[in-house]
Amino acid sequence: MKIGVFDSGLGGLIMTRAIHDTLPEYDLVYLGDTLHLPYGSRSAEAVYNLTETAVDYLFSQQDCQLIIIACNTASASALRRLQQNYLPNRYPDRRILGVIVPTLEAAIESSHTSIGLIGTENIISSNVYQEELEKINPEIKIHALATPLLVPLIENEGYKYIQSVCEDYLKLFEGRNIQSLILGCTHYPIIKDIISDILGQDVQIISQPESIPAKLKDYLNRHPEHKSKISKNGDIKFLLTDITKGYSKTAAKAFGKDIDLIKIELQKADLKTDIQVQAQVG
Ligand code: DGL
Repeated sequence: MKIGVFDSGLGGLIMTRAIHDTLPEYDLVYLGDTLHLPYGSRSAEAVYNLTETAVDYLFSQQDCQLIIIACNTASASALRRLQQNYLPNRYPDRRILGVIVPTLEAAIESSHTSIGLIGTENIISSNVYQEELEKINPEIKIHALATPLLVPLIENEGYKYIQSVCEDYLKLFEGRNIQSLILGCTHYPIIKDIISDILGQDVQIISQPESIPAKLKDYLNRHPEHKSKISKNGDIKFLLTDITKGYSKTAAKAFGKDIDLIKIELQKADLKTDIQVQAQVG
């Protein structure tokens, strides 16, 4: 059996590489739902449905024992419901892990009291980081900022615009005295150095690929019942729901070397009840 890593796009490849570097013997399957990217501006219900479909595919078609939802947006909108309802009904002996709580644990290790957070519209409006932090340490304040232009710029090789867009966004942290900044999106580690240069050396950047793999290793050591089921050939498979010419380049940049991308079609999960929303003028 394998470890699955799920993201809405290609950013999660950085995490996959980091997991592979930390746990090189384990077999991994990466799934990026590029067909439905971006998740960050979709409704929570849509993100839940897309994530459930992807997770179901990784369990049923790719023989995953454990899935890391690397996507912050999907972690916010789907993780709890998947863990509480889907998993006990469908795969009670397998596990789904998210990135939000382990990221906060990494952020509070340095005893900072004022933390910045950037992420998609969806992750910021969900307040999930604030809610989880409240449970861990209510004394720490989070200053959250939605930075929705960054994912499309990264996915579309818009690097020449990123510096000025970041400068403009990060101005909003001026006067807030943040001591660290959480990069609350799988894509942002690609532009970590740009962000760090703008904020200066006094602000510690919390980048998920630097902290999550060690937490996963620790989790596996504490859970031999899962660890023992994962095969150890060091293989990695890269699956995407849509592939364009530009994706090969971005994927190679994110993973750090050329990789073979396989296009797959996700099966629609069980029929769900349609939700009607009335469109109103004004
Ligand atoms: N991967 C998503 C995240 O980490 C961002 C990209 C998207 O909007 O789909 O939040």
